[in-house]
Amino acid sequence: MLHVNENYAKIKPTYLFAEIAHRVEAHKKANPDAKIIRLGIGDVTEPLCPAIIEAMHKAVDDEAGRTNFHGYGPEQGYAFLREKIAKVDFQDRGIRIDANEILVSDGAKCDCGNIQELFGEDVKIAVGDPVYPVYVDTNIMAGRQDIALLPCTKENGYVPVPTPELDADIVYLCYPNNPTGAVATLEQLQAWVDWANANKALILFDAAYEAFIRTPGIPHSIYECKNARTCAIEFRSYSKTAGFTGIRCGYTVVPKGLVAYDQAGNPVELRPMWTRRQTTKFNGASYITQRGAEAVYSPEGQAQTKATIDFYLENGRLMKEALQSLGYQVTGGGDSPYLWVDVKGDSWEFFDMLLKKANVVTTPGAGFGKAGEGYIRISSFNSRANVLEAIERIKAL
Ligand SMILES: Cc1ncc(COP(=O)(O)O)c(C=O)c1O
Repeated sequence: MLHVNENYAKIKPTYLFAEIAHRVEAHKKANPDAKIIRLGIGDVTEPLCPAIIEAMHKAVDDEAGRTNFHGYGPEQGYAFLREKIAKVDFQDRGIRIDANEILVSDGAKCDCGNIQELFGEDVKIAVGDPVYPVYVDTNIMAGRQDIALLPCTKENGYVPVPTPELDADIVYLCYPNNPTGAVATLEQLQAWVDWANANKALILFDAAYEAFIRTPGIPHSIYECKNARTCAIEFRSYSKTAGFTGIRCGYTVVPKGLVAYDQAGNPVELRPMWTRRQTTKFNGASYITQRGAEAVYSPEGQAQTKATIDFYLENGRLMKEALQSLGYQVTGGGDSPYLWVDVKGDSWEFFDMLLKKANVVTTPGAGFGKAGEGYIRISSFNSRANVLEAIERIKAL
């Protein structure tokens, strides 16, 4: 008998953004002339910067001739990119990470979703609530039921605190946070690192929005914490850093010496396991893509990608200011592309109201978990004209 993986029946039937798309489509059908402004899904709107375009054009030309043609690349990523990552993202910040601890991929979603394959079906998982749904759904698909929710609330500033009672082997942390836009301080992350080391647990740190951090002292990497190398894996993405949502590139850091345990309690190194997983199931991000990612690290690439992020942050600042002037409590922005707005009511109802009355698409907080009820997430990824128009429409309600 051809059996299906019945765990798939245990995940929520519609992915959040599919439900939003469905409601937007229905609204468009009923109102064909409505000019809809999308502040929902966190997709970038600004084009790739010139330094990246130039590098990718050059890489296309490489592929056009016999001398510089590239076929299959190293599954872990080209050395030219891994070395730049190690230097600029880590070593220049005083963090000890080596190029051979970095594995380049086609984005953080795949890596965040695939990493759980390295662990036993019985490991206990903890995630924030609200949460980026990929962490939860991929574990449920793999048959894990024991997923603890760590409430991220106004009271704890959307950064859960580890407690001695927390019974988890793996904790997913994401800062700057999607969806709340909150950032964690070094002390807050250090508390998690200390907890993980004391409990032989693992932190899966999603730093997809690291490039948005502007406040001095806010950690860009979990490895800024003492002893994080023995308890943390970090995911990075060029999607929001450099507008690569359609190009697809990211990377994962698995430090040498980081271990989990076999049934007999013997340590097993995770870096060779992740390498084996990737080399078996993944054939690398394209050469052209990796040349584009490399250009992020040139002085021009750094300045140009920073300017684009500054542009999005200004969108966020304008919206936050407008919403606060209307009396809403808003978290996020500043160090993140997301605003988390307390709507003091049902989040899907508020979503529907904004869609129907203002033709503005947001994301209902409830879609990210129970503790997201009562909030909507607004994304700063849009043109300035659309942001200003959305502000005017919301003010006019
Ligand atoms: C927290 C978080 N992690 C990972 C991703 C996925 O990044 P990528 O585009 O690199 O797959 C996203 C994208 O929205 C995200 O919000």
